[in-house]
Amino acid sequence: MKKAVLEALKNSIEHYVSGEELSQTLGVSRTMVWKIIKNLREEGYIIESSSRKGYQLLENKDYLSQAELELILKKQEWISKGYFFESIDSTNTYGKKLALETLEAPLLIVANEQTAGRGRLGRQWYSKSGDGLWMSLILRPNISPQESFTTTLIAAVAVAKAIRNLYGLEAGIKWPNDIIVNRQKICGILSEMSIEWQTVNYIVVGIGINANHDSFPEDIQHIATSLKLQTGALIERHRLLNEILEQFGYYFKAFTDDVIYEELINQYRQYSVTIGHRVRVIGKEEKVGQALDINKAGELRVQFDDGTVEDVYHGEVSVRGLDYYV
Ligand code: BTN
Repeated sequence: MKKAVLEALKNSIEHYVSGEELSQTLGVSRTMVWKIIKNLREEGYIIESSSRKGYQLLENKDYLSQAELELILKKQEWISKGYFFESIDSTNTYGKKLALETLEAPLLIVANEQTAGRGRLGRQWYSKSGDGLWMSLILRPNISPQESFTTTLIAAVAVAKAIRNLYGLEAGIKWPNDIIVNRQKICGILSEMSIEWQTVNYIVVGIGINANHDSFPEDIQHIATSLKLQTGALIERHRLLNEILEQFGYYFKAFTDDVIYEELINQYRQYSVTIGHRVRVIGKEEKVGQALDINKAGELRVQFDDGTVEDVYHGEVSVRGLDYYV
């Protein structure tokens, strides 16, 4: 019912809908309508009320809630179900638990806050309440582990494209999967998978976007930025979420459609801020070279200064630019 009230308010955004009309079209009492409005306000929706005119939802606000998620999923039919949490340890950790309980897929998990957000290579991921878009998708593509990197390519291209479409920022991809704006990191992606009998059982793709952060902790402030800092405007995370899912849904077909796979790889190359640049590859040892390309498996081909050419696997190394993080 909450979803229906929210939908009715959104359909006449910034215009009043009378309580009487809401109660009649939805077939509930006016007291019930009032209770739902109260509940939506508690979730952060800014709803004005007037005793004569009824209720109106104010636009240009940043909303995330279970009801909001369900409205988005009505448009994103390729996703089977969505779970919203006000606060959770990590959407990826929850995703891995959920994948053991159900075979249903794709599933979406979104949280307003993560208390134990995780990054690549065992790092922590700073996920303060309300500021970011913290989300995970549970996917079950019918692929071998060697093909799994495609999921990361899809996520990176989907996020970069969504940011470009919505905010006109030149979002780039730092190999393997950091999204960069003006040489600073705006989004990180963490893909985790379970393998059985040489096939992928499930993949949890976690995406963390710095949306409305005004500042960052001292240790990451030189490398991190947010969409709000870059655009100067409040980011409506529900819109961003919808656009990412729209793009993701399109490129997800790359698993079954060779033309879309080619398109995906080319788009990745076009957005890459690593290919064609000098890089420092930090693994067991540290080596400097020129990033040449990515191969079909998503590995980075690097020509090192000693003349050797290697395909670098993403699970093992960090890559840095020579002067900046990128
Ligand atoms: C990285 O750049 O190191 C990857 C960061 C991934 C962060 C996201 S936020 C949503 C999901 N849940 C997590 O605990 N991590 C990912």
